[in-house]
Amino acid sequence: MTLMEKELVKPISNNQRSATKSTTLEYTPEIAKEMAPLYEKVKDVIPPVEWPQMAPLIKAINELKKSRNAVILGHNYMTPEIFHCISDVVGDSLQLAIEASKVEADVILQCGVHFMAETSKLMNPEKTVLISDSKAGCSLASSITAADVRALREAYPGVPIVTYVNTSAAVKAECDICCTSSNAVDIVESFDSDKVIMVPDEYLAKYVATKTKKEIIAWKGHCEVHERFTAQELENYRQANPGLKIIAHPECPPEVIETADFTGSTAAMINWVQDKRPAKAMLVTECSMSDNVAVDTPGVEFIRPCNFCPHMKRITLQNVYEALLDMKEEVTIDPKIAKRARASVERMINAVAK
Ligand code: 13P
Ligand code: SF4
Repeated sequence: MTLMEKELVKPISNNQRSATKSTTLEYTPEIAKEMAPLYEKVKDVIPPVEWPQMAPLIKAINELKKSRNAVILGHNYMTPEIFHCISDVVGDSLQLAIEASKVEADVILQCGVHFMAETSKLMNPEKTVLISDSKAGCSLASSITAADVRALREAYPGVPIVTYVNTSAAVKAECDICCTSSNAVDIVESFDSDKVIMVPDEYLAKYVATKTKKEIIAWKGHCEVHERFTAQELENYRQANPGLKIIAHPECPPEVIETADFTGSTAAMINWVQDKRPAKAMLVTECSMSDNVAVDTPGVEFIRPCNFCPHMKRITLQNVYEALLDMKEEVTIDPKIAKRARASVERMINAVAK
């Protein structure tokens, strides 16, 4: 079945029909011409053979966004066609959480993983928040439950609990404050207590421990993408590429962070490369980041040790198109949990704003 036929057999409302009736998902000469300036931007990271499948979907998604009064929030790990061609706002988890709190559109479509869509819903309880594949999870988010946090509170009475944003709303609801990799050190420092519990990322907690005098009690969750990098692998790349600058995400194991020239959130990594413009750079993080940054940093050669996040890669142009067409899959959060989880995220945003 062609894409056009798939669209025709879908049960769609009149509203949807008016949004889509003029849409063709074939790569016509008209679409090729209209989309040529956009392809010019991404031509170094999207092969010409793939563009004819992508261009009609990109055009249809951008039209659907208008008719739905929707915005797309895209995480830095999205593939280049999602990041550069359909996202209205791109960024790291902190930037997306802050932008989510300012959205004026009726609909937010999150191009990222489920905890990110939940965060957008927390910040916009009255709006429709969609994710095109609700199975887009995260090994960190699934490493801890609300019951685990309650057990930690009992084991360490009075010790503040900071949760990384990579958790479910139910976990956020049990914690005192949220943090992202952009602000984890500042959030930990914001407490008077000389001990702080950090969940669920053990390696982020260890990284923060190197930047504060406080004792950090860590949960043992790991990111399945970043935990695979090794210091030896990085050293091998360095030897093979004299002058290489290595930039790592704090979800990497400590020995990897020690080997790196710079460590920071995905946004901080991008800023570092844009600012320093090294001749050769290696982003020790999810694969798509290098493609996305390369579009805006000509002259920097990216060495790519490629580890995919299978959860982020569930988000595709095709399912984003279907999500906007059918207004699915809607993110919902139990209001009692949402109220407490929102407080955790708002405390973080307010702390960052100071
Ligand atoms: P950032 O907040 O740095 O974008 O990280 C999110 C994430 O999931 C990294 O794996
Ligand atoms: Fe989770 Fe790691 Fe994927 Fe980020 S890269 S969403 S931390 S599994």
